[in-house]
Amino acid sequence: MIQVTLIPGDGIGPEITEAVKAIFSAANVPLTWEEENAGQTTFDAVGELIPSTLIASLKKNKVALKGPITTPVGKGFKSINVQLRQMFDLYSNVRPAKTTKGIETRFENVNSVLFRENTEGLYSGLEIFDERLQIADSISRVTRVGCEKIVRAAFEFASKQGRQRVTAVHKANILKQAGALFLNVFREIAKEYPSIQADDIIIDNMCMQLVVKPEKFDVIVTTNLFGDILSDLCAGLVGGLGVVAGANIGDNMAIFEAVHGSAPDIAGKGIANPTALLRSAIMMLHHLDLKAEADRIEAALEATLVNKEECTGDLGGKASTMEFAQNIIAKL
Ligand code: NAI
Repeated sequence: MIQVTLIPGDGIGPEITEAVKAIFSAANVPLTWEEENAGQTTFDAVGELIPSTLIASLKKNKVALKGPITTPVGKGFKSINVQLRQMFDLYSNVRPAKTTKGIETRFENVNSVLFRENTEGLYSGLEIFDERLQIADSISRVTRVGCEKIVRAAFEFASKQGRQRVTAVHKANILKQAGALFLNVFREIAKEYPSIQADDIIIDNMCMQLVVKPEKFDVIVTTNLFGDILSDLCAGLVGGLGVVAGANIGDNMAIFEAVHGSAPDIAGKGIANPTALLRSAIMMLHHLDLKAEADRIEAALEATLVNKEECTGDLGGKASTMEFAQNIIAKL
């Protein structure tokens, strides 16, 4: 049995986590969950936002599945997600966006995977506020090592998965230092993968291209802020945040997570869509080399998604979170 850390999160987190646990149990996936939580609810219970027991569990298991955690806006503690990514150097944020039969969208045949640098850039945490002059500086620190790691991760993925093309997204025309460093590293590393087509595009043009012809993109690699925004844009192309997976991967640890938030507006109602967390959990199974289990659960999910009435309200159905999970289980 493989042991995995499970972070249910808050808001709708515990509800969608229960659904995923039920599906994994019905599919006899050979893993056990070690449950640890983080965030405000954990702070209220044990006095720590990221408890030492969670850190110990992550260090031991090296693989985790995580639900959403509420972050206060403009005040309060720093995002738990950002802290975990920086604490364990989870430098690759991997976000697949694929059209699904049954989920109506404006586009067909979207099948991209975005690699977002996850630890530096504008999210380095280097912020200064001059109270007297009322000037705020947020420093975007980009390092050669950081660029090399994310660009290599994107090319390695493309090479292993038989993908044709890697596109770098940047703003090197204006960001003459940070943007240029990222682009130069991309061009250097691309030479090591001659069978993969490599090109680059400026972020503003990329936004336009993605909403006009998203199916022409394959693997995409970019810095932190651009990746944060583009990955949600790509999610919107294939059905929204409720249906896309995400992973934070470093050299020694991987945390798979639902990319949507804690959805306080529907928390506790039992109507949240568990698809995003389930798809992240399926990515986790691939990471753990449990391909047969991953394929079996994915097939059951896809077979359920084509019947709207078997799905949750956001997908046009009437099922509760657990009814949706039971419908998937029935197709395993
Ligand atoms: P949100 O993703 O929680 O909600 C946006 C809208 O999408 C809401 O109407 C919500 O009901 C709906 N929605 C989200 N997930 C859904 C699901 N699985 N099924 C059905 N509907 C779903 O974004 P919002 O409201 O901006 O953020 C709420 C909180 O979540 C904030 O504190 C934010 O910081 C946090 N957050 C946490 C993330 C994480 O832990 N990875 C990621 C994004 C936000």
